[in-house]
Amino acid sequence: MIITNFKTYESATGDAALALAKVHQEVARETGADIQVAVQAVDLTRLCGELDIPVHAQHIDPVKYGSSTGHILPESVKQTGAVGTLLNHSERRLERDVLKKSIERAKEIGLKTIVCAKDPEEGASFLEFEPDLIAVEPPELIGGDISVSTAQPEIIENAAKLIGSEKLLVGAGVKNGEDVRIALKLGARGVLLASGVTKAADPKAVLLDLASGLK
Ligand code: G3P
Repeated sequence: MIITNFKTYESATGDAALALAKVHQEVARETGADIQVAVQAVDLTRLCGELDIPVHAQHIDPVKYGSSTGHILPESVKQTGAVGTLLNHSERRLERDVLKKSIERAKEIGLKTIVCAKDPEEGASFLEFEPDLIAVEPPELIGGDISVSTAQPEIIENAAKLIGSEKLLVGAGVKNGEDVRIALKLGARGVLLASGVTKAADPKAVLLDLASGLK
């Protein structure tokens, strides 16, 4: 599984988000790979309306219908056709009780949850909330040139031991098929990445290479 987090990159916002997501869909169709995207809340309706690949929100708030101005209502996300949400990303960290409530709200309405963690231990501590996936991303490697697979492979092994392979994604600096291959070999189910694709001159070529690492 490959999930691209579009973050707030200009190349992955609005019209560009739709174009980039279509490239993901193209590669998913051509390769048969499980490729998914996590996009900004305001882009969800449009992307979900035009795509067949799974689309996630980047965040939800644990609010209900009513008076929560400015929050991201889980029901609104669900109504767009999104299948799930990231939670607790390094760039959007949550207090533990807020994370717990957010996962509960997501479950109530049938949204999948991908909870991010800064290290394997923190990831393992989230197992009690029963998220669908846990993405371990060392913060210092996020957005950088060196991948978790090459810089800190022991983190992946350790995370697989503590969290189990079924729920484990890893990320930070992942950019090519070899990074994916190593991650899977060391026990991850897939990768969560961003800049390797969003900043690429040729995102399709990068995605094809990433997908080759799943085999
Ligand atoms: O959510 C994915 C992420 O934080 C990793 O970012 O740019 O290092 O692939 P990047």
